Amino acid sequence: MLVMGIETSCDETSVSVVKNGRTVLSNVVSSSLRFHKQYGGIVPEIAFRKQLETIAQVAESALREAGVDLKDIGLISVTDSPGLLGSLVVGISFAKAVSIGTGIPLLGVNHLHSHVFAGFLEEKKPRFPFTALIVSGGHSSLYYVRDFDRIRLMGSTKDDACGEAFDKVAKILQQGYPGGPVIERLSKKGNAGRTRFNCLNSKEPYNFSFSGIKTAVLYYVKKNARKTVLSGRDGFVCDVAASFQDAVIETLVVKSLTACKSKKTKRLVIGGGVAANGRLRTVLSREGAAKGIEVFFPSREYCMDNAAMVACLGYYLYKKGHTSDLKLDIHFN
Ligand code: KG4
Ligand code: ZN
Repeated sequence: MLVMGIETSCDETSVSVVKNGRTVLSNVVSSSLRFHKQYGGIVPEIAFRKQLETIAQVAESALREAGVDLKDIGLISVTDSPGLLGSLVVGISFAKAVSIGTGIPLLGVNHLHSHVFAGFLEEKKPRFPFTALIVSGGHSSLYYVRDFDRIRLMGSTKDDACGEAFDKVAKILQQGYPGGPVIERLSKKGNAGRTRFNCLNSKEPYNFSFSGIKTAVLYYVKKNARKTVLSGRDGFVCDVAASFQDAVIETLVVKSLTACKSKKTKRLVIGGGVAANGRLRTVLSREGAAKGIEVFFPSREYCMDNAAMVACLGYYLYKKGHTSDLKLDIHFN
């Protein structure tokens, strides 16, 4: 069965055609990022206006690249929550319009759950049950997953999301937006031992808090940047980036492996934009292996927001009997 996935929860407009939940025939992603850069973050009003302008073209490109026609599509799977309201409305309205016009069944899926199943687009898939860590620009969540429709939240962020912390620290270091890729690049040249940051908060094993570390970085930079710049010592920015990145990775590793232990699962799935981070991938795979836990990462293109993962989850949910009707709307919870 061919599924058309539609993803418009943040700045991306993405449409994908996926066969049997596994083979990606096309995955077109159009980002409005360049229009937001000057503001240092996503401006919702700009995001949904760009999505309105582009969604029909993106859908046409996805069908063309896949070499299929709308009449070949067996299901339209669309992100219905969580995300930016205007952006979600664009995707949902487009999906409904296509469904009404063609009679193709419609299904709304949760954005974070679709990140959980991005790894199912890879050759090697985890068996149920498993724990999942989703770390993106808007969320940091730990799940216990028994099936495609049995996903239980174990913990989440109390304040800033993990990717948001990368973005804010990059801003403090005056390195632009989005922060994740730039922090990763700077860290490679940095000395993580120069200073130590911490965001582990071991009192709450499955919840996250990243606003404290952002503030700690801010004060450290305020106190030390001028001195180091004046003394001609370079590498300051790289060292701070590396120290910050190591602290965040330590937290993600400890909490996700603790969750595996408590649930007695030997499989851990990672997803979301931060899962593209090379050092996280290396450290988590190594630490997981040391504890006999297999860690599954999607390929980098499916870590970021994309419609292929939406089509993938939609396929499996539909096979289990889930569908939506034209009352499909954003969930506010
Ligand atoms: O999943 P995603 O594309 O969008 C949301 O659903 O939020 O995640 C975007 C987030 C941004 O905060 C970005 O800075 C972060 O993922 N990110 C990274 C890396 N690439 C993207 N964080 C750390 N290391 C990276 N290489
Ligand atoms: Zn996302």
